[in-house]
Amino acid sequence: MTYILGIETSCDETGVAVYHPDRGLVADVLHSQVKLHAAYGGVVPELASRDHARRLPALVHQALESAAITPTDLGGVAYTAGPGLLGALLVGATFGRSLAWALDIPALAVHHMEAHLLAPLLGSKPPAFPFVALLVSGGHTQLVLVRALGDYTILGESIDDAAGEAFDKTAKLMDLGYPGGPRLAAMAVDGDPSRFSFPRPMTDRPGLDFSFSGLKTHALTTIRRLEPLSEQDRRDIARAFEEAVVDTLHIKCRRALEQTGAEALVMAGGVAANQRLRERLATLRGVTVHYPPMNLCTDNGAMIAWAGYLRLRAGEQSGLAVETRARWPISELRAPCREPEDA
Ligand code: KG4
Ligand code: ZN
Repeated sequence: MTYILGIETSCDETGVAVYHPDRGLVADVLHSQVKLHAAYGGVVPELASRDHARRLPALVHQALESAAITPTDLGGVAYTAGPGLLGALLVGATFGRSLAWALDIPALAVHHMEAHLLAPLLGSKPPAFPFVALLVSGGHTQLVLVRALGDYTILGESIDDAAGEAFDKTAKLMDLGYPGGPRLAAMAVDGDPSRFSFPRPMTDRPGLDFSFSGLKTHALTTIRRLEPLSEQDRRDIARAFEEAVVDTLHIKCRRALEQTGAEALVMAGGVAANQRLRERLATLRGVTVHYPPMNLCTDNGAMIAWAGYLRLRAGEQSGLAVETRARWPISELRAPCREPEDA
């Protein structure tokens, strides 16, 4: 197996990377559309698709150049096929599938959340199976028992907003701009944790599901009571909100680890970049906590190249049709039929 090209276009980042089994990650380039969508306070799907189409060819050139290879050195192309914005997915999938066809090499349609989940395995000390994965992004909040590549059992998930979505919506309520999650987290650093107490939803009953929409409503009620907000009010609300999310995730992770007996916890997805969450999960006793480096937490092409490589190595490949899915439950994935040759 040689160089694998990874293409990510599921939302508002165009990511392209090249992975090689011996050389590791040899290229990883990214174009963020943050500025493009900022004026609208959120991602505008049509603008996202158009920008992916505009940027992708140049980014692929750039990635190949930085890996010092030519297209004919590629042994496979992996592209995000879902879940995500359909138009945005179609850009990367069409490009990736066509490139693989033109080069007569295998193509692999990658599940975006599986790629997030497998990203920590790219590190120098990868966790051993089985482990519990906490997937926390803008669209998902899930606890997954991972027994092997493609063997995923959902232990719990959000019944309403995803954790990242709650961060973004609460940030918007306080006019923190877009993207809200990292901005709210930055404000929280100087907030007083004892001023407001936010609820820890669904922690007073058994089970591993989450609910974050109530937290946003709680933030709204607090904001209405205080308006106009001072900078310190914003910081204190941000802190109380962040503590509530982090504490809730901490409680549910502990429960999931106890329930499964797993000894490793993997954090993945954009919210895994949250410093406070990392600190709290590091206090879990008797488990090792793994998370990808910051640049591999949020959307990127590297995790797609890596996930694609793992499945291609196991003999899997996608057909000639360009297939994308806006919704694609991770529990539908299956382990590759054949064991990897060089595992
Ligand atoms: O995984 P990701 O890049 O895209 C999706 O697949 O959704 O995750 C983006 C989400 C956004 O909701 C963003 O606000 C959140 O991750 N996020 C954070 C932080 N950095 C990104 N949330 C809290 N604290 C952060 N430091
Ligand atoms: Zn993502």
